[in-house]
Amino acid sequence: CSMEPTKGQITAGRKLLAFFLLQVMVSAILLTYLRSLPEADPSVPPTYTPPKEPLEGSLVKRRSSRLTILLWTWPYGIRVPIENCFEVLGIPDCQFTVDRSWYPKADAVLVHHYDVYLDAQKLPLDPRSPIQRWVWYSPEPPSKHPVPAFMDNLFNLTMSYRRDSDIYAPYGWLEMLPGPQEVTIPPKSKLVAWVVSNWKPDYVQGRVRYYEELRKHIQVDVYGRGHRPLPGNQLLPTLSHYKFYLAFENSQHEDYISEKVWRNAFHSGAVPVVLGPPRKNYESHIPPDSFIHVDDFLSPQELAAFLHALDKNATRYASYFRWRSQMKSVHYKSWGYQFCKACRALQQSPKTMYQTVPQLSK
Ligand SMILES: *[C@@H]1O[C@H](CO)[C@@H](O)[C@H](O)[C@H]1NC(C)=O
Ligand SMILES: *[C@@H]1O[C@H](CO)[C@@H](O)[C@H](O)[C@H]1NC(C)=O
Repeated sequence: CSMEPTKGQITAGRKLLAFFLLQVMVSAILLTYLRSLPEADPSVPPTYTPPKEPLEGSLVKRRSSRLTILLWTWPYGIRVPIENCFEVLGIPDCQFTVDRSWYPKADAVLVHHYDVYLDAQKLPLDPRSPIQRWVWYSPEPPSKHPVPAFMDNLFNLTMSYRRDSDIYAPYGWLEMLPGPQEVTIPPKSKLVAWVVSNWKPDYVQGRVRYYEELRKHIQVDVYGRGHRPLPGNQLLPTLSHYKFYLAFENSQHEDYISEKVWRNAFHSGAVPVVLGPPRKNYESHIPPDSFIHVDDFLSPQELAAFLHALDKNATRYASYFRWRSQMKSVHYKSWGYQFCKACRALQQSPKTMYQTVPQLSK
């Protein structure tokens, strides 16, 4: 058998070669065409493409990386400092932005209720990626800023002062001390203080009406607009001289215990006299012997008599400070801190959690 190719074999070989060349050319053209298709441009947020790997795996991957949270607005339109979440909560840091061009790729959108509740058009209107989560946040109760129906079936997580929120963001909380501490009561020279920024003789709220009755029986020093002036930096030193502070909430809602208790009373060292949700609800948040509830008395007059009696009995008055040997109160830190809380909840939520809040007002 000869190794020399025959003439017929040469022609067949050439045909094969030509075929291969054609293949190469077609592939090259195809490749060039494919390359010319829109490519990922880092300056343009990519549109969402469904994950090819199992959903759970892709979520794990996403959440272990740094989360990007779009703050839909600055709260009340006011720019606030952003915190480093590793420093304040010891969690992987989060990236916050108010730049809405991040909307398509943000892991979550945080919507501050007040800034959108009057107009559905103020909410994000473009379709969102199915893994992006919307967090609804309101530090205020619904009687102040109502929750409209257009907010139903929209949000995935709620954040508020309510304990049944997905992300619990109270105005203050208690922390255990490492061991029993000696309690010092700030020196007292005055009796009852009240700071009011929003003076409305609102008889639905009832707090002004209660005060009007109470002041007939005990001296109450009122600070705030239209009353005694009180610059912010004088708040705590001024209130610390008072034995009692009227921590009257502007409206009564479950778990709505504001900075009036945590800052104005606890932080200054005055005993809070509370008007708000029922005593039982307060006791879920603060020790039963750390406050005086207006509901404990049949009338403002009886409350006044009780405060006068406490004023005369140092031992009994001091009993309202007993809890401080074990615990300290911490009050609301900053907006940036709350944002970090939202980020922590998003980082820690179950990998495959899908949920929508059907009826937000509920
Ligand atoms: C002061 O209050 C305590 C209870 O806390 C009571 O035992 C004591 O008798 C009171 N003292 C006076 C002088 O009323
Ligand atoms: C968030 O809520 C929206 C609106 O109901 C829903 O379509 C989406 O699946 C939810 N996403 C997650 C991650 O829960």
